[in-house]
Order: sequence, then structure tokens, then C-alpha cells
Amino acid sequence: MSKQVKWVKEDPNNRFVFWPTEEMKKRAWVSDESIYAEAAKDPVAFWAARAREGLDWFQEWTETYQWNPPYFKWFVNGKINASYNALDRHVKSWRKNKAAIIWEPESVDEPSRVLTYNDLYREVNKFANVLKSLGVKKGDRIGIYLPMIPEVQIAMLACARIGAIHSVVFSAFSGESLRSRMEDAEAKVLVTADGYYRRGKVVNLKPNADVGVENTKIEKVIVVKRAGNTVNMVAGRDLWWHELMKKATLYCKPEPMDSEEMLFTLYTSGTTGKPKGIVHNVGGYLTVALWTSKWDFDLHDDDIFWCTADIGWITGHTYACYGPLLNGATILVYEGALNFPEVDRWWEIVEKYGVTIFYTAPTAIRMILRWGEEWPKKHDLSSIRLLGTVGEPINQDAWMWYFNHIGGGRCPVIDTWWQTETGATLINSLPGIGPFIPTVAGRSFPGATHDILDEKGEPLGIGEGGYLVQKSPFAPGMLRGVYKDPERYKTQYWSTYGEKIYYTSDGAIKWDEMGNIRLTGRVDDVMKVAGHRLSTAEVENALTQHTSVAECAVVAAPHDVKGEVPVAFVVLKQGFTSSPELENSLVQQVVKAIGPTAKPAKIILTDALPKTRSGKIMRRILKALVKGETVGDVMTLMNPETVEDLKRKVGYSK
Ligand code: WT7
Repeated sequence: MSKQVKWVKEDPNNRFVFWPTEEMKKRAWVSDESIYAEAAKDPVAFWAARAREGLDWFQEWTETYQWNPPYFKWFVNGKINASYNALDRHVKSWRKNKAAIIWEPESVDEPSRVLTYNDLYREVNKFANVLKSLGVKKGDRIGIYLPMIPEVQIAMLACARIGAIHSVVFSAFSGESLRSRMEDAEAKVLVTADGYYRRGKVVNLKPNADVGVENTKIEKVIVVKRAGNTVNMVAGRDLWWHELMKKATLYCKPEPMDSEEMLFTLYTSGTTGKPKGIVHNVGGYLTVALWTSKWDFDLHDDDIFWCTADIGWITGHTYACYGPLLNGATILVYEGALNFPEVDRWWEIVEKYGVTIFYTAPTAIRMILRWGEEWPKKHDLSSIRLLGTVGEPINQDAWMWYFNHIGGGRCPVIDTWWQTETGATLINSLPGIGPFIPTVAGRSFPGATHDILDEKGEPLGIGEGGYLVQKSPFAPGMLRGVYKDPERYKTQYWSTYGEKIYYTSDGAIKWDEMGNIRLTGRVDDVMKVAGHRLSTAEVENALTQHTSVAECAVVAAPHDVKGEVPVAFVVLKQGFTSSPELENSLVQQVVKAIGPTAKPAKIILTDALPKTRSGKIMRRILKALVKGETVGDVMTLMNPETVEDLKRKVGYSK
């Protein structure tokens, strides 16, 4: 593959700035700068054109955009079905026998699986009929707790086909995490697996699923036989996927859904201990999933698109399922760990299948970078023509390393900023337009408008850091609510700057005249731990459930590879003393309540937490301590002496 980018040293700060080459521009779906101005002139018309051009509607909408702050609707009265758009129309075309999903198992001895569009279509239809036969109706919630196997896309699309609302839960979350989500969703059916492979070992998933089902409204549990480990099947409740599928009929009519009906909810962490169910509706979500996949990654029919995100996160939903499938593209799905059996597994897969578009998280890049460039060098990565990153701010070193050692200095790096709430990418450069600047995500996607405001709501100038917001018309894929919690929807997103401005909770800097934006990270108590979104309050809740804990505070500490890690300050109850066993049992408590991703990196036992005179824990001080930043004035505290003690324990050197 020849060069897709060129380096132009024109930035006043003497930074690297890359632009697409003529070849890249020629190939790209969009290469003309004017797309931004055109979309900005009439964003509603822009999105209407996208929705019309990209999707098949059973019935055209009567009103494109409706805004009653803080609520908005897109394609009102339009009728559409996600599964129909991702499958039926491709099956009716030459793509019928094109690979939709190439699945690579973790074990190198096991064969891969390829599902053509026709295969996927049949499986989805059959599973939709299975769900129907179990009494699942439009609007019912279905939990999906599966590893990265094709059954996950099959289950999601089957739900979408009959209008059931899927709620996928990351398979590395604990049973208790699953339960709280299933309870909130009031799910009727759970789809899970016996187990899956992780670093060569079988992870038993079913026992976690059993915990997740307890005391919920789940009536049936459908179990995919993946790892063949022994599982306990509860008679009358648990059913094998393969047995149900054997009897299922081949065709299921897709349910015409109102554009503003729910497609799925996905639970994500906010600033409280309770995760919230982010609501995404059909018409708007499909529009952005389709067009951002196509334009951001310059997705063509001959591409093999690999988004390494797990399906349990929004990135997996939009770029390892809906977005590429709506485009009739081929996706690669890998079951296992990136370092199994060796740390070059990803590159072996890229070479084996000739992956052309590779999309991953900065945390993974930083890990791979540490292992050294000799690992990717062992493989022919010349099929790659475009790289993407997502999930957290990327540092310049990681960007350059990715660009040089994975992209061979040829490929644009598309740094996509977005959130579970936005449904699809919203700030990034477009491959045929550029520029590609390390640590600067790029411009708002055409048809979206962002601004960076100060605390009072005044727009900031170039180079000034503030808070990232979005303005109406809100991109069609934006969340429509928090499941069963309208109050939380209002307070979280529409109270900081009023009901007309969407507040992202991210810090950002306006980079230049062109509208490029640099993201600087969350400004609330949400952490990004190895790209995983986690609230400090959730970890605190988990710890206070431990019998020994009187009080605790969790803050995010910077970490070279993971970006951030939780550090817990814990005050023990009377009668408990510090020991390695106790510390370990505190860590295990968090793993049990949330999952291994939430493991505190450090537990600091202390006699007291710094508090104001009114008894409020001063998290600001704890944050400064773990970040090595200036602690500032402590004299207003009720117990300033604790800060000195904590400084010693943290190893604070200022
Ligand atoms: C938060 C949302 C969106 C898919 C995965 C994350 C951070 C995301 C970037 C980026 C800097 C980023 C933000 C955002 N974030 N992408 N390219 N540069 N920060 O979704 O789990 O809902 O997390 O991730 O802080 O608010 P999520």
C-alpha cells in the first residue's frame, strides 16, 4: 500500500501535521473541505439527505427534527428496521455471499468461522424466531452477556429484527454488575454462554450469569455452548442455544419500528454509584452508525474492518456490529487476548486476513509500544491503510508510534472522540480531508456543532481550555434518555448550561481557526481505566460493602499504560487492623461487585480522610496527592494533619 498521508511542517508550534495524499483523497468518500460548510448551512437537511441515501425506510418521516429542550427527535413518524438494513438489503444484492463476519477464536488450533451475509441473515432470522417462541415481544428487554463470538451480533440483530430492546453487558463484568443492570432493565430473557477463552484458559461465564439472574424478572436463559465447560442448567429456565436453533424456522418478518422507538439501552458509568441505561433509538442511531463508519474509516466494499473493542461497550455496538454491517462491510471479530499465545497475536491476525482498517484504544497502543517494535515487524502489515483510536486522549508518543510502527508511516490516524451517549463518533478528522495532528482529535463531524465554554458559559478562544458542549441540532445518534430516569437525563446533561446545551463532562481546547479540537479528559468523577469507563462512586460503593470498611474515597491516579487507575483511601472500622490479607480481600470485594477492570491499583489505609468542617470528603486534595499536583491550602479542613500523613503514604514529593 502506498502513502496515504504526507507530513507538512507548517504548524506554528512546530508540531507534526499530516495531510492526505492525492491518492488518499481520490479514494475517499469525502475529500472536499466544503462538506463542513455545506452541512453547517442546514444540518437538518444534511442529516435528512444522509438518512434517505443510506437507509431503506418502510415509511418516510413527516418531520426531520423536532426540538423540545431538553428532548429532541429525528425522522418523526419514519418507519425502519435495523436488522433489515444490516442484512436483508445486502442479501438481495451481490453481497449475499460476501463475508459479513470473520471470526478468529483465541486458540490457534481451532478453525476460524466465516459468516456470509446470507449466513448471518439466516442465523438472525432463526434466533428472532427463537425469541418469539419464548414469548418475547416488541419492547421487551433482552440481556446479552456474551464474549466476542458471532452469536453476540446474531443476538443483537435478532432483537432488533423483532423490536426487542437489547442491553449488552460486558462479559468481564461480575455477576453482581450484571444483576443490577438486568434489574434496572427489567429484562425478560438473558443470552449468555457456558464460557470463553482468555489467555488459553476457559473462563466460566455461566456461574456469573446465574448470579446476574437471581431476583430479576428474567424468565429464560439461553446458553451458547462455546467452551464446552460443564455448566449447571436450571430446568425450565435454562435452554441451549443450539437446541433452540435446530427447531427454528428460517424467516422472520422484520418489525417496522418507529424511528423514535428504542433500539437498545447500554449501561454506562456516571458520577453516582449506579450505572445508567443510555437509551438509543432506531432511526437516528442507524443514520450516524452508517455514515460515521463510512466516512471516518473510509469504508469500502473491499475493506476488512477490525474494531478491537468488546461488544460490551458502545464502540463494539457501533463499529463491531451496526455501522459496518449497515454498510455491507466485512468485519473481523477476535475472541481473545491481544497477547495470546504471544504479544504479536493482533499482528498475526492482521497479516492472516489482510485487515485494512484497524481501530483500537490508546491504552492498547501504549501496552504494545512497551513490548517493542520487533513484534509488529515480524509481520506484513502492509494491508493496513487506515488507523483509528478511541476512548481516551492519546499522547503524542503513542500516536507517533502507532503511525510509524503499525501504519508504516503511510496511514492516517483517525482519533475519534465520542461517548456512549453520542452513539457514534462526533469529533475526528476525515481521512480524505485531514489534517491529522497527534493529540488533536479534529473537527466536529459534518452536521454536528460543538463549542468550548468557560464556567459561565462564555465561548472560549483558540488555545483556551474549557468544557466541551454540543448545540442543536443534536446529532441524530445522541441519547434520547436515561432508561426509567428522566431526572438523571436532565441533571447530567442539560443542567450545567441549561436545557439547550448538551454538556459532555469533557475538558477541551480549541486548537485552531479551522475548528480542530483537543480533548483533555473527563472533568467529573468518571475514570477511564484502560479505556473502560468507570465511576469512582461505584468502586466506593463496592468497598463500603466490605465488613471492615468504615469509610472510603476513590480517585483516579495517572498510569503510564492504562491512562488512569483507581486508588482507594480506606478508613477501617474499629477492631480491624491492616494486613496483606485484608487488603487483598478489599480488592477482591471490588472484583466481585464490578469486575477485574475496576481493581484498585493501590489501597491506602488511613485513620481519617481529609474533610471540610461540614464533614464533606475533600476529593480535590486526594486527587492532587495521587497526581503529584500542588495540594493547596488545607487550613480550612477539619483535620489538616491527615494530609501530612497521607502525603507520606502516597509518596508525595512536593
Ligand atoms: C469518554 C466516553 C466513545 C467510545 C468509547 C468511550 C473519552 C473517548 C476520546 C478521544 C479523548 C476520549 C471522553 C468521553 N474519550 N474518545 N478520542 N479523545 N477522550 O465511550 O466509555 O462512553 O467514554 O471517553 O472522556 O467522555 P465511553
